[in-house]
Formats: sequence, structure tokens, C-alpha cells
Amino acid sequence: MSYKDKIDISNLPRHIAVIMDGNGRWAKKQGKLRLFGHESGVRSVREITETAAELGIEYLTLYAFSTENWKRPRMEVEALMTLLLKTINIETKTLNDNNIRLQAIGDLNSLNKSIRNRLQKTIDETSNNNKMTLILALSYSSHFEIVQAIRQIAEKHKNNEITLDDINKDLVSNHLFTKNFPDPELLIRTSGEFRISNFLLWQLAYSEIYITQKLWPDFRKEDLYEAIVNFQCRERRFGRTSEQILNQEKVKK
Ligand code: IPE
Ligand code: IPE
Ligand code: MG
Repeated sequence: MSYKDKIDISNLPRHIAVIMDGNGRWAKKQGKLRLFGHESGVRSVREITETAAELGIEYLTLYAFSTENWKRPRMEVEALMTLLLKTINIETKTLNDNNIRLQAIGDLNSLNKSIRNRLQKTIDETSNNNKMTLILALSYSSHFEIVQAIRQIAEKHKNNEITLDDINKDLVSNHLFTKNFPDPELLIRTSGEFRISNFLLWQLAYSEIYITQKLWPDFRKEDLYEAIVNFQCRERRFGRTSEQILNQEKVKK
């Protein structure tokens, strides 16, 4: 039996975020270069994106490259950028075929011009698609995102556009790159690492975290279904007690 049959379609997370980790180790295990792992990871990206859209997930955010990843050997960074460009080129058609809209978050100005242009072209070409929004986190760092939000807010305060009393949770959220998306209910990280690695620190405040030992190139459809089933078994209390949650559910029924 597939985990798919166990999914409660009426209770899907609206937004799933994924830290796609383990490409390098996957390649190394086979005596191959790290780049082979990154290339193989593209298949998982395609399959997970199509599967999420097919299920009815509204937003899927994939952490593809962090600000810290610029510190990797130059050869690996260049290979990753070339792969990114090639993948966006090829997969624009897949996105349109699946009615998926592309968006990007991160310090996009740090990407080279050919990638920025290609990315913008695909964002424009898919902007009317409405089955799912795929958000690529590129040259992304939560610290960078929060600092730029604070700067914008400070600037508005200086210009008397807002008062101190206007600064609240919603105002902060509205200055993040993710302002147009709901916060993820589920965060998946592959490769067994128990850390967030500077990803969506604000937005993950109440997300359920699912960590699997599977390395990203091995993470497929069935693994996504399993993660969603696991998510649906969690009790999300948001600070309340278990009894309160159960009573709330009784009232709803
Ligand atoms: C994730 O795989 C891809 C990126 C960070 C770009 P890694 O390249 O981090 O693979 P490991 O963690 O070294 O195995
Ligand atoms: C996190 O993976 C970033 C991406 C998946 C793009 P890393 O492999 O860079 O994370 P750390 O450095 O091990 O925390
Ligand atoms: Mg890694």
C-alpha cells in the first residue's frame, strides 16, 4: 500500500518547504564527484514538484542555494550555477505543462546576470499559472532577509511613513521576501541533519519539522507522501494543551 492512500486530502499542508540536502554524500558513496550528486538531485526536484502540485499543495519552497554556499570551492559554485541555469531553461516547459508558477526568494542580485534574466523570464512566463507556486530559495539566507526587512522598516519610520506602534508581527512579515506566501506548515530536511541552516527562521516559527535519512537524490514521490502522512499524525498545539485541541475538534464536529 502506498502512503498516498493514507493521506487525508482535506487536511493537506498549504505550504511545504524543503532543505534539499545530501547530494554530495550521495555521489561520494558511489565514488563519483559531488557534481554528479547535484545533477542527480534535479530528478528529485522535478518529481517532488510534480507530485506536490498533483496532490494539491499550494506552495512548495525549495532551498537550492544558500548565501553560505558561496563559500564552497569555486568549481562547485560555478557548476551549481551552470546547472541552475540549464535546469530553469529546460524545466520552464514542465512548469507550464503542470500549471505551476515560479517565484524566487533570496539575495537575487548576487546571482550572475544570465541567471537573473533567465529566472525573471520564467517567472514572467509562468505568472498566470495557478495550480501551485514553486518558490526557489537562491542565494538565500534568513539573516539577510531579516536585516533587509529591518532596514526597510527603519527607513519608513525615519520618513514618518510609520510610527513605532505600527511595528508588529504582520508588518515584519510584510517586509520579508515571503510576504505573498503563507508560512510553511511542514519543513522537510533530507540527509539526516538536525539543523535549519539559515532557512526561513521567522516563517518556520510553528512549522512541523520532518527529517529523513534519505539523501536528496533518493528522495522521491513515496517519501513525500510519507512525510505528509507523518505531518497529519502530529498534534499542532500552538501553545495550547492537548485537551483544548481535542475539545476544539469536538466542537467543530
Ligand atoms: C545540497 O547537497 C545541495 C546544496 C547545498 C547546493 P550538498 O551539496 O550540501 O550535499 P552534502 O550535504 O555535502 O552531502
Ligand atoms: C543547506 O544545505 C542549504 C541548501 C540545501 C541549499 P548545506 O549543506 O549548505 O547546509 P549545512 O552547511 O550542512 O548546514
Ligand atoms: Mg549539505
